[in-house]
Amino acid sequence: MKLLLLCLGLTLVCAQEGNSGVVRSNFDIPEITGEWFSILLASDDREKIENGSMRFFVEYISLLENSSLFIKMHTKVNGVCTELPLTCDSTGEDGVYTVSYDGENKFRILQVNYSQHIIFYLENFSDSFKLLELYAREPDTSPELKNEFVEICQKYGVVKENVIDLTKVGKLSYLWLSLPEVPCC
Ligand SMILES: *[C@@H]1O[C@H](CO)[C@@H](O)[C@H](O)[C@H]1NC(C)=O
Ligand SMILES: *[C@@H]1O[C@H](CO)[C@@H](O)[C@H](O)[C@H]1NC(C)=O
Ligand SMILES: *[C@@H]1O[C@H](CO)[C@@H](O)[C@H](O)[C@H]1NC(C)=O
Ligand SMILES: *[C@@H]1O[C@H](CO)[C@@H](O)[C@H](O)[C@H]1NC(C)=O
Repeated sequence: MKLLLLCLGLTLVCAQEGNSGVVRSNFDIPEITGEWFSILLASDDREKIENGSMRFFVEYISLLENSSLFIKMHTKVNGVCTELPLTCDSTGEDGVYTVSYDGENKFRILQVNYSQHIIFYLENFSDSFKLLELYAREPDTSPELKNEFVEICQKYGVVKENVIDLTKVGKLSYLWLSLPEVPCC
């Protein structure tokens, strides 16, 4: 009987975890708009996120009338933190967008919990390097979510050494700027 109860208990726990609000398809795009913080950034081409064009920090996402996304980013240009406004056009495919930035890129939403986090996967069409991003609604996330992201990166062929934690960088900038709401580089 005790064993049966234990089994039942475990099943309930598992059922709840599986139902934790993480969406992997049929995305409700208006729900992904609003403020986000860059948490982790990963690429098979480490230079691009270490000190390159793909080292960017998100501020917010908004939805345009024509179903394109407007994503306001920040990136360093010649050592100066600069606004990077990106317009990303819908491909018509669920959660898949194109963006012209340093080449033609296509990205997709891998998973989202609208009130907690979102994971994007980006591929440069011609160069075909990979980029994965974890954004959260808060300036930092749980170590569990970070670990899960690292596992997802590995599935996409990005080694864990190539996952950069941007929260440290961000926090330092916040202190310096005394502007907690501005994500910087
Ligand atoms: C998101 O995550 C929180 C905390 O795990 C959970 O309570 C919530 O139901 C999830 N789903 C959505 C859609 O926000
Ligand atoms: C980053 O790139 C800039 C411009 O190419 C260079 O001047 C700088 O030394 C680089 N910094 C690091 C830490 O690699
Ligand atoms: C959607 O609207 C934005 C802003 O007006 C524009 O920059 C973008 O090119 C449009 N995209 C398409 C596919 O029409
Ligand atoms: C993306 O591909 C284009 C075309 O090959 C290339 O010019 C561009 O440098 C690539 N972008 C990045 C960030 O590597």
